[in-house]
Amino acid sequence: LNVGDFANTVLAWQHSHGRHDLPWQKPATPYRVLVSEIMLQQTQVATVIPYFQRWMQVFPNIETLANASEDEVMAQWQGLGYYSRARNLQKAARYIVEELSGEFPRELTDIEKIPGVGRYTAGAIRSFAYDAYGPIVDGNVRRLFCRLFGIEGQVTSSAVNKTLWRHAEQLTPKTNNRNFAQGLLDLGATLCKKRNPNCQACPFSTECVAYRENKIEILPTPKIK
Ligand code: ADE
Repeated sequence: LNVGDFANTVLAWQHSHGRHDLPWQKPATPYRVLVSEIMLQQTQVATVIPYFQRWMQVFPNIETLANASEDEVMAQWQGLGYYSRARNLQKAARYIVEELSGEFPRELTDIEKIPGVGRYTAGAIRSFAYDAYGPIVDGNVRRLFCRLFGIEGQVTSSAVNKTLWRHAEQLTPKTNNRNFAQGLLDLGATLCKKRNPNCQACPFSTECVAYRENKIEILPTPKIK
């Protein structure tokens, strides 16, 4: 499976079958991508959409968020859960406004310095907002890669994590990063689902190790509780 073929297959699939109407895609500004990615961390797309839209009415840009009171911020987050995300998001806004003069960082290493922004979120901001090289591994990509490459070992182990990021870095193209990243997430979320994945419709079924070896149900290897 060569790198260019992989990207082209993801892009072609995304063009015909991926999601193109998510509110944070139009427009995909760094601020809107940051807010949506933090909301999506532990919450499903369908739940996030109305929260995201209300949020953008109340806090249309990074300055309004930085200047809001904590009560106003928590009120908008009410019902989404994992409330530390809301506090982190405001911390991020204040960091960008106060430390970076409101200038959203562009380089991956600088994006990662934003409070609450880890490797995945930094790659997502880089891909979605700047349409630039930014590898991403989230739960969706992890499932897809573990099956496609037949990666065994507990998904939360550092060895598996390292392998996944190495694949992501190698397979992420230098162009069309916005559509590529959306394609990876959408493939994972809509076809390569945890239960009953739709392998018939998957453009990678002939290459997929788990599909070939009948390991779809056992990969990725769940963490032992
Ligand atoms: N999950 C995280 N980011 C996403 C995005 N941009 N689209 C769909 N699902 C996502």
